[in-house]
Amino acid sequence: MGISLGLVGLGSFGSAFAPLFKSHQAVDRIAFCDLNPASLAKFVNDPFYRDKFDPKDTFASLDDILAADLDALAIITQPQLHAPQCVAAMEAGKHVYSAVPVISLPDFDEILEWCDRIIRTCEKTGMRYMLGETTVYRPKTMFCRRMADRGEFGTFVYTEGEYIHDVDAQCNLRDVAASRAANPSAVPRGTVLTTRSGTEPKGSPMSYPTHSVSGPVHVMRAHAVKASAIGFRNRTGDPYFARQEFSNVVAFYRMSNGATCRICEFREAPGYFGDDAETFRIAGTAGTFSNGMWWRNGRTQAGRVPPPTCQTPTDEEMRDPLPSEVVNAFKRVEYRGTPESELAHLDFTPTGHGGSHPYLVHEFVTAVAENRQPVINAWEAARYMAMGAMAHKSALRDGEWLEVPDWGDAPG
Ligand SMILES: NC(=O)c1ccc[n+]([C@@H]2O[C@H](COP(=O)([O-])OP(=O)(O)OC[C@H]3O[C@@H](n4cnc5c(N)ncnc54)[C@H](O)[C@@H]3O)[C@@H](O)[C@H]2O)c1
Repeated sequence: MGISLGLVGLGSFGSAFAPLFKSHQAVDRIAFCDLNPASLAKFVNDPFYRDKFDPKDTFASLDDILAADLDALAIITQPQLHAPQCVAAMEAGKHVYSAVPVISLPDFDEILEWCDRIIRTCEKTGMRYMLGETTVYRPKTMFCRRMADRGEFGTFVYTEGEYIHDVDAQCNLRDVAASRAANPSAVPRGTVLTTRSGTEPKGSPMSYPTHSVSGPVHVMRAHAVKASAIGFRNRTGDPYFARQEFSNVVAFYRMSNGATCRICEFREAPGYFGDDAETFRIAGTAGTFSNGMWWRNGRTQAGRVPPPTCQTPTDEEMRDPLPSEVVNAFKRVEYRGTPESELAHLDFTPTGHGGSHPYLVHEFVTAVAENRQPVINAWEAARYMAMGAMAHKSALRDGEWLEVPDWGDAPG
């Protein structure tokens, strides 16, 4: 028997995940929830969902769906809501998938407190939490993780990652913020949010560090132990940055494996370095991955080695394979309306943020079905967020080196 799953938040991003969650062969039943009746109606009335959706599984708020007999919820609401909503879901006995980041708030102590609270809630309830970080399932990350697991990097030396999303990029952050603010939002009635006295702190791109840090952390299986960062303050008086301490931040980290890490989170810089705006590079003593190139000299000990070989693997070569039944299920999303008899002859192309979306859905659904920790569990997610929080705190102190908190590895 498969699992039952409710989708909470059917806005721009949630809409992209609904057909994948519904189509996964380990999902038997799907439920829909949004505060916005128009967003709900798009899914409730769509015949594509009819084989797994009963109209009684329509919910007008998170409070309502918390009372339903569902195994899991996928929460894809506005970024300041995720953590309290996920805690409420786990308290209500549901495994939970969260859109990134864990939570985005201007108060970085509060961000760390929510990471702690999510981990404690996992421990207390036994529920699974997964952060839907797209970079972890980009082709380059899967490739580097395989190379790392085989020891092909040798000893890790250096890594750098970036998320460069200029406020006026094609996906314009002014428009995104306005659209999210226009959508209704609420945390569940039972959730208590921290209320602080004094002036409201100003934010930073480091409240959303998951795209830039997750590649290095996930591939090296290492976390940051110390952070030092320098921030750049907007100099034009742009109202978009009025409640932001910094528009761009560069951070350095000492990692738990002895490697050095450099991260850029930029919101006021057009274009990008290297081959992508959301990317990372990693150098080891025997292998280096950079801008799609895999350099390897096979060094294992002192002494001369041959000059390195260089490969440029394709995305298809870099991706891990998905099980054939999952590919068949997701073909029904890619080729919606195509007769079953024709699907067998068609290829499946993973799409969405480097093809990560089908992998994220498959990982969460199978983790719940198999009752195991998801790859991007609460402990891993806290490592990403702590790097951002301590970079921001360091930048406020002009680069002072600060210790980065860590909650350890996830229990089995
Ligand atoms: N690369 C990535 O991983 C990536 C890319 C885009 C967006 N995101 C994340 O996805 C999330 C959603 O972004 P979006 O652009 O779709 O936002 P959106 O505003 O379009 O959608 C959010 C939806 O959540 C609903 N909602 C809020 N509170 C609710 C509640 N209590 N009960 C039921 N429904 C509720 C709103 O009505 C809205 O429809 C954001 O947190 C964002 O950070 C991640």
